[in-house]
Amino acid sequence: MTATTAASAAYIVAGLLFILSLAGLSKHETARAGNAYGIAGMAIALAATVGVATRDISAVGLTLLVLAVAIGAAIGLWRARKVEMTGMPELIALLHSFVGLAAVLVGWNGYLSVEAAAGGPVLVGAEAGIHSGEVVVGVFIGAVTFTGSIVAFLKLSARIKSNPLVLPGHNWLNLGALVLFAVLTVVFVAEPNLLVLSVVTVLALALGWHLVASIGGGDMPVVVSMLNSYSGWAAAASGFLLGNDLLIITGALVGSSGAYLSYIMCKAMNRSFISVIAGGFGNEGSAASSDVDYGEHTEISAEDTAELLRDARSVVITPGYGMAVAQAQGPVADLTRKLTERGVDVRFGIHPVAGRLPGHMNVLLAEAKVPYDVVLEMDEINDDFASTSVVLVIGANDTVNPAATEDPSSPIAGMPVLKVWEAERVVVFKRSMNTGYAGVQNPLFFRDNSRMLFGDARERVEDILKAL
Ligand code: TAP
Repeated sequence: MTATTAASAAYIVAGLLFILSLAGLSKHETARAGNAYGIAGMAIALAATVGVATRDISAVGLTLLVLAVAIGAAIGLWRARKVEMTGMPELIALLHSFVGLAAVLVGWNGYLSVEAAAGGPVLVGAEAGIHSGEVVVGVFIGAVTFTGSIVAFLKLSARIKSNPLVLPGHNWLNLGALVLFAVLTVVFVAEPNLLVLSVVTVLALALGWHLVASIGGGDMPVVVSMLNSYSGWAAAASGFLLGNDLLIITGALVGSSGAYLSYIMCKAMNRSFISVIAGGFGNEGSAASSDVDYGEHTEISAEDTAELLRDARSVVITPGYGMAVAQAQGPVADLTRKLTERGVDVRFGIHPVAGRLPGHMNVLLAEAKVPYDVVLEMDEINDDFASTSVVLVIGANDTVNPAATEDPSSPIAGMPVLKVWEAERVVVFKRSMNTGYAGVQNPLFFRDNSRMLFGDARERVEDILKAL
């Protein structure tokens, strides 16, 4: 068996492992196995790629390659160990930017080594045209992903404001850039040259930046998964250029799963994908809603909350971003156990965009060993709130905001939310009356059946545990 056939076989195995990995990651119970498949697939892919490379490159090149892999792996391990769950989206955004940059470099390298090769173009006829097309498309998707992901990283890590940048006619700017790209692609394929490729690169860098800069607060989760999808397509484009089947398969898997996740999230927020891309949401209509007088809120103590829970038949816990910030999942799991032992029916209601990344709450609850069968999706639990004695809203805000269903002028109008206000009693754990991620005031806090339990969610849950 030649090195190339061995590598092809290894690539097929790795491709299958990646598919198994995605399948595994789609359910709590199999997520750990899914991760293991992914790691195994990537190890095989790396070994096969390095194996093939050893035939073609010098000893110095190989040393550099191994060194780069070792340094990359060390940095990756260090970051993965250090990153907080709440910092994951920004880390993911940053990692997407690397994929984008790699695709740009691969594209440019393709141009320099084929179309602009020292001894004249390496390819002729249709093959040359296809190669040029791959170069220009790869560079374009890569550059959009690169700057778009950097802006997403800066916004998510609060290094720049998350408000949308609204340039006059911003949708026309985006559309104009796409039309110009189409024209430049035709020109480049007909006559590959440095100037056109440079213009495409600069155009795509600017488009990526503008596209994400003009999308605001509440739509960031969709943007991150959209960039995830772009990074997949950028990798697939590189795969075509490098003639690497595994990169094509992996890129297509990432590209399509990212696109599907974006679709699911848009559905969860009742927004069309096009309107997300067109930007504008998160432009803080909150200014208008903050003028509204919602009345007074009522506070409750941890002891009184414990009393409520003692008498409850059924309790639903709806966690949100604040539970992650407070790292309250451990005490929340203890509370669940304690109440269940007392015969209270305790379940969790998870909003699809609760927290700051898809599955954020599920991961935290799994980490705290909350049984999977009591952790329900929004659609599975939304009809049960009316028959629930007590809802504990632990650090959630936008995802339980009744304005989404009741106030058509609210910036989050139409977003499906957990209907916690239908329960007999709602206790909201937060530190202040501040708004959540979308910057919108929450009328839930002022309802007659709502009580505010102020303070750090972890400390308050521990107080309740003591009182119980
Ligand atoms: P948010 O609306 O972000 O509200 C979180 C609440 O937690 C805040 O109101 C905050 O109030 C409270 N909080 C923060 N730290 C706390 C602590 N230590 N103890 C107690 N409370 C604390 O949360 P959500 O309901 O989970 O909604 C998620 C939002 O993020 C949505 O708008 C969603 O679109 C967006 N988003 C989601 C994702 C994904 S994919 N899940 C990604 C990016 C953005 P205080 O400051 O008063 O304590």
